[in-house]
Amino acid sequence: MKHSEEKYADPPFPRDPRGRPDRFYRTLERIVPALERFSAMIGTMSPPPPVDRDLDVTVARVDRPAEGVAALTLQRVGGAPLPAWQPGCHVDVVLPSGQVRQYSLCGDPADRGRYRIAVRRIPDGRGSGEVHALTAGARLTLRGPRNAFPFARRERYLFIAGGIGITPILPMVRAAARHHTEFRFVYTGRSRTTMPFLDELSSLASGAPGSRMDIRPDDEFGPPSAETLVGDVAPGTAVYVCGPPPLIAAVRDALPDRPDVALFWERFSPPPIVDGTEFEVELARSGRVLRVPADRSALDVISEARPDTPSSCRQGFCGTCRVRLLSGPADHRDRPTGGSPRREEIAICVSRSLGGRLRLDM
Ligand code: FES
Repeated sequence: MKHSEEKYADPPFPRDPRGRPDRFYRTLERIVPALERFSAMIGTMSPPPPVDRDLDVTVARVDRPAEGVAALTLQRVGGAPLPAWQPGCHVDVVLPSGQVRQYSLCGDPADRGRYRIAVRRIPDGRGSGEVHALTAGARLTLRGPRNAFPFARRERYLFIAGGIGITPILPMVRAAARHHTEFRFVYTGRSRTTMPFLDELSSLASGAPGSRMDIRPDDEFGPPSAETLVGDVAPGTAVYVCGPPPLIAAVRDALPDRPDVALFWERFSPPPIVDGTEFEVELARSGRVLRVPADRSALDVISEARPDTPSSCRQGFCGTCRVRLLSGPADHRDRPTGGSPRREEIAICVSRSLGGRLRLDM
């Protein structure tokens, strides 16, 4: 997909009758940098409130930006603007079969007329297979956008993406380039043909002098070492990484004891269970008690007994699996993005017990 630089260029100011920049826009020009500095002081752009209503959208077009990757452009049925979003946001996509999947928004937040998601086809992946079968004109339901990977304003960035992990990172790179913020971006993948959006990245790079993009396909450079990925990280850098678990683990291991560096990551698959201990869950409505081994999640165990148990991200950020906690010492491990106070509910995909039995309202 060819990306046009002009599309993202700031529009020229309107002119008054004498040909000078319009006064209103000149005032805005002075105010906006001050607001941006204020935002930088606060550190994080305030995320848009989560949108829980359903959004009916149409697939406006399907592109294939790399081998095995489908990029869907989605427009609202009826043509109204879509809800605002920020880099790092994702939407829940209700597929025609009823399956729900989370996909990062990878288009331009300034364009409220369309969303874009990109999905790599996974062998035996039911959700990705269904997305790849969609064609222009198909109708979908979205929920969100939600932000579980918030983009903080910092003085410089290191972005690291592995493969389809480019999807949340691409809007961040675009935002950094647009604000002339220094960044380095390392993008890895098996080969160039499997790495989506290389053309968009090259036009972003040409508009961000002083920043660096390292495109590192494994078939040209070999698998990258942690040092290659991270390099020298200056104090005050925000590091954003998205990709497979080994990539995230390598970056985390390469940045020990750096309180001057902020590290944010998003993974594709459920996190490994760390320090898990065995516990019990009681399904209060039936009185059934199930044992959750140390190396399994409560969701896995409950889903065997109750196959209709709702779940989606299985990583503790979407809230789909949350159930009311009636009693028991909970070890909350989710990342709530809104909704009920977490002490009254528990995300059974990642949360566990501190010991003993959890009584759940299900
Ligand atoms: S399935 Fe998303 S929070 Fe548990």
